[in-house]
Amino acid sequence: MDVRIVASAAEVAREGAAKVAGLLNRLDDTVLGLATGETPRAMYRELVLAFERKELSFAGVTSFNLDEYLGLEPGSPQSYRSYMQRELFDHVDIDPLNTFLPFCEAGQHPDEVGPAYEAEIRRRGGIDLQILGIGRNGHIGFNEPASSLGSRTRVKTLTRETLASNRRYFGPGETQPELAITMGVATILDAQEILLLATGESKADAVRAAVEGPVAAMCPASALQLHRRVTVLVDDAAASKLELADYFRWVDEQNRRLESEGVEWNRS
Ligand code: F6R
Repeated sequence: MDVRIVASAAEVAREGAAKVAGLLNRLDDTVLGLATGETPRAMYRELVLAFERKELSFAGVTSFNLDEYLGLEPGSPQSYRSYMQRELFDHVDIDPLNTFLPFCEAGQHPDEVGPAYEAEIRRRGGIDLQILGIGRNGHIGFNEPASSLGSRTRVKTLTRETLASNRRYFGPGETQPELAITMGVATILDAQEILLLATGESKADAVRAAVEGPVAAMCPASALQLHRRVTVLVDDAAASKLELADYFRWVDEQNRRLESEGVEWNRS
């Protein structure tokens, strides 16, 4: 794992956006895996600004989101589709037909959504870069603790903790779904490259378990240890419980020096 510790959430956003921009400018047709939530919001803002400065284009991008609530009306402001429109899609030149979320259409059986989603990902050549946030309980996507590390896109019941933490997005009287359709852990691990973002002290335990804990279904993010190209981009607060924080900072310093000299190889 390439663990990058930076000073602030704003820097996480800038570095994350720079990584995405680098990929978009390198590949003609990029397939991005996208996350919602609080953490990537500032990174999307950076990407929109870069688009406005004409530094990048989303014209050749296909995107697959990690997850979507089950049972929300299409167009509901709390849906992850609405979030993506608001935070990114409405402000850049991405073709709406190339943006996918695991949404269950009216009349469709929820169990059909996952296999169809996986087939579409394969049809588009697989995900080049998967963006992830992390839950306080170590979830990635909505793969809650004890999710199979071999899981594929499917329906999941959210934990009470996740429901409580996302309750703030639902107004009084609005129904918060307890089910979601999420990429599985194995779906996420299929991506060519993974970028996990975490900011704030509330994520410090989860980051520690993901990076330094045992690979265990109790912390689904720990499965990322099995992937060859993962960057964990965190601010000081989210890194505050890492035992190896000094080592990670030292490695990062070396890596940045090598990069500035034009040397680049996979060091994860
Ligand atoms: C969102 C997602 C979740 C979030 C995680 C962290 O699509 O899949 O795993 O990344 O719950 O959420 P925030 O960033 O709101 O703390």
